[in-house]
Amino acid sequence: MVGNVVLGISGASGAVIAHRLAREIIGMGHHLHLVCSRYGRLMWEYELECTIDRSVAEYESIGDISVHKPGDVAAPPASGSFPVIASAIVPCSMATLGAIASGAGTNLLHRFADVAIKERRPLVFVPRETPLSPIHLSNMKILTEVGAVILPPMPAFYNKPQSVEDIVEEAVQRTLVAMELRSDLPEAMQWKDAD
Ligand SMILES: Cc1cc2nc3c(=O)[nH]c(=O)nc-3n(C[C@H](O)[C@H](O)[C@H](O)COP(=O)(O)O)c2cc1C
Repeated sequence: MVGNVVLGISGASGAVIAHRLAREIIGMGHHLHLVCSRYGRLMWEYELECTIDRSVAEYESIGDISVHKPGDVAAPPASGSFPVIASAIVPCSMATLGAIASGAGTNLLHRFADVAIKERRPLVFVPRETPLSPIHLSNMKILTEVGAVILPPMPAFYNKPQSVEDIVEEAVQRTLVAMELRSDLPEAMQWKDAD
């Protein structure tokens, strides 16, 4: 089933994961709704050496995309009546995670996540911070208890990744499975018996 998919990008490290994920989602035929925070934009430029606007131009050449301003809490993804099949925040900063866990969010990333929680729709967080404080952990516990998936981009070394690219690809594919946009990991990433 194709539909509206919302992707939030916040100011944590890991823009490359969001970049690959956005391409995959659009390539699957979904309409991608992108919301990038101010610090998400900054990290994108720093880590990918490219503006998010340039990446969006690339996505537009592949398929359907709408870009919403983080301050626009009247945009379609802010409403529970707007049909959305899956949402994710990739990468998710501890600030964004905390705002959503508290229920006292102020921007569109916080709001679309809050909507996904109240509407019981698939919602995935790909957080990035290390080490994690008790505050980070309790916010993650709150979000997992309300049905969201907390998916830190931790590599499985039994897959014998050969490059950063392999590690990023695993995080992307696991996120797609958690968002219920694909049923299983690609075969090459599945555990196989040694003999
Ligand atoms: C270079 C740089 C790297 C950062 N990396 C992280 C990170 O990996 N995880 C995190 O939670 N915050 C990180 N931060 C801090 C967030 O960007 C900051 O808390 C910001 O207010 C997050 O806002 P946002 O969640 O609205 O994007 C980083 C900040 C900078 C400047």
